[in-house]
Amino acid sequence: MRSGSSLGIGVHAKATDCDEKKPRDRTLVQSRYLAQIRDMLPHSSVFLLVGSLIVLPAHARTAPVRGPDPQATARTHNLIPVPASVAWGRGVLRLDSTATIDVVRHEDARLSRAIARFRGRLERRLGAEMSHAPASSAATATFRIDVASAGDAVQSVNENESYTITVDSERVTLQAPTVTGALRGLETLMQLLTQREGRYELPAVAIRDAPRYPWRGLLVDVARHFIPVEGIKRTLDGMAAVKLNVLHWHLTDDQGFRIESKRYPKLQSSGSDGDFYTQEQVRDVVAYARDRGIRIVPEFDMPSHSTTWFIGYPELASIPGTYGIVRTFGGGDASFDPTIEATYRFLDRFIGEIAPLFPDAYWHVGGDEVTARHWNESRRVRAYKRAHGIRTNAQLQGAFNRRLSRILATHGKKMVGWDEILYPGLPKSTVVQSWRSDGRLERATAQGYRGLQSAPYYLDRIKTAEEHYLADVDPSGDGVAAGRGTLVLGGEACMWTEHVNAETIDSRLWPRLGAIAERFWSPREVNDVGDMYRRLNALDAQLLEYDIGRALHIQRMVRRMSPDESVRHAVESLLEAVAPPTFLERIRGQGTTTLTPLVHMIDAAVPDPWGRWETERLVAASVADTQVARSGANELQTQADARDSLVTLFTRWRDALGPIRVGAMTSRFVAEALPIAEALSRASEIGLEALGHLGAGERPEPDWSSRSMVELAAYETPRNLLRLEIVGPVRRLVQAAEAGVSATTGR
Ligand code: ACM
Repeated sequence: MRSGSSLGIGVHAKATDCDEKKPRDRTLVQSRYLAQIRDMLPHSSVFLLVGSLIVLPAHARTAPVRGPDPQATARTHNLIPVPASVAWGRGVLRLDSTATIDVVRHEDARLSRAIARFRGRLERRLGAEMSHAPASSAATATFRIDVASAGDAVQSVNENESYTITVDSERVTLQAPTVTGALRGLETLMQLLTQREGRYELPAVAIRDAPRYPWRGLLVDVARHFIPVEGIKRTLDGMAAVKLNVLHWHLTDDQGFRIESKRYPKLQSSGSDGDFYTQEQVRDVVAYARDRGIRIVPEFDMPSHSTTWFIGYPELASIPGTYGIVRTFGGGDASFDPTIEATYRFLDRFIGEIAPLFPDAYWHVGGDEVTARHWNESRRVRAYKRAHGIRTNAQLQGAFNRRLSRILATHGKKMVGWDEILYPGLPKSTVVQSWRSDGRLERATAQGYRGLQSAPYYLDRIKTAEEHYLADVDPSGDGVAAGRGTLVLGGEACMWTEHVNAETIDSRLWPRLGAIAERFWSPREVNDVGDMYRRLNALDAQLLEYDIGRALHIQRMVRRMSPDESVRHAVESLLEAVAPPTFLERIRGQGTTTLTPLVHMIDAAVPDPWGRWETERLVAASVADTQVARSGANELQTQADARDSLVTLFTRWRDALGPIRVGAMTSRFVAEALPIAEALSRASEIGLEALGHLGAGERPEPDWSSRSMVELAAYETPRNLLRLEIVGPVRRLVQAAEAGVSATTGR
């Protein structure tokens, strides 16, 4: 997201208005991914849509479950994204260090490296070394990996990513038409792995899986804050875990030029403060991504968001002059001069140098938020427009994009751009990426362009995972059903880094990105929010293998804030229920620049903290709102259990205030949390009082609930930019107490 206190607030306010999508009717849709799965099945197979899963006839050795079965209850296990079809069987496959892996049919170096990584991850889980020797025969191997082919030499949008898995008590068979499909299946196996009573096992299951959309991306902005190679690789590991397949690398902007050009070295030497990727590093990252089945699409944003090009090469700017790295946010007015041949000569040579580093067929030209102020001020640009009968700046940008598209084509690249580039004359090969919420994707596809959806998936807005999850990629209906064929390629989550740096990025990406990844991969009908949160918590734990985790982030940040362990524990408890500000709240409240140290309580706090949904869920169970309480919960709680858990949580949050008061006396960072700690403590007290009334089955005094409601309303306002995330559920408890829900209802 781009915006600043001086610019673009209106645009962003509009963009934040993205509709909250409600779960749609669970109807079977005919679409590309279902057709793909159907092709993989025996002709006699019949689809049945059950709950949120398409359940297929079970594998012969894994008879369908009848009657109560723990695995039937845990329909989705810890799988995120949920596969297109799952049929649970009975029994398990026990795993220990004697497990062997055999690869049949196709073998290549990429697959071997993937299997070595898989074995390493298994070994770390098991705590034991597995045999590295090939299995004595495929028939006896524990893991039989049957891959038909390497797949595309350069992964394309059409790469076949499907796979099937069968697990019975003897062995696992993973089959895939391509190595990329096998990579997806290996990730599913890692998520199936379960620890029970100190032993590791895989549940008996038959899975047939393929993605709903072929383009499932994440944009990472490394211009506002540089993210070193290790951070990018960690992100790629996480992306692979949830089957995302495109890293959109936003490499240049007003605040930084982050890639080495040997031909035009002043780009990085004057545009990066020394923080850029060498070409060797880029090759390394591209290879790392390729190994994980992830394409890399670079973005070089132009004609605006381009100040850092002009520091070293001011002759390319529409107003030549002295430029410097922009430290504030919201975009500068600097723009390429689209009226001079020198611009196109330069871009042709630059693209010619850089294109070979990125094997992908696509190249992103940005094209967003052209302020055009410099175009209006430039006598040369004005004269050019007059001479060529160009009336508007949008028309001028359209002409620029047509030239750019031709240059890209000569270097073997197809153009992708933000939705502002949709203008008459745009080549039909262009992919249009929608970031504004007002029907831009529909507009592009209606004109025959292929499109990507990003509007509901801006991670920098600090929304809940639920909000992202319930926003469909194609809100106006399935692209196929709407007669738009396969024009909707998929979506991308966007991690703009105005308020995010190398230290905080993991906590802004994860685990919420898992919910978006599921939206891009899984059938549209998979939309059980409670079950998603349960699996998101499992993903949060899984990602610890890559040193990524919400609690880990909080602990690291809070460690610096106070030497006192009891203070730190109290702050950690607080941050279970408190979120950072939204993008706009922060821009307005903090006035962040690229130089602002991101070490404050708002940086330690995480979006959609764990305690928010946990409180929602427990309150729903406590007041016997069965729809939410049962949603996704394989650990269905009794009302009494839920109330006990709430008492534990509220007590912890109420009592966090004392140590935070102490810490605030000596730490300015802890002091930042004091006002919201007071709010949390009081909201928790109200929650405890409500539970007391509910438990006793007594109606409170009438003025207790009205006083409590007024007080709770006050806690909805952020304090020191920190937001309390549990007001809604506490309010519901107060209402339930007021309504006199009996102590025994719902047991
Ligand atoms: C954008 O957020 N300006 C693409």
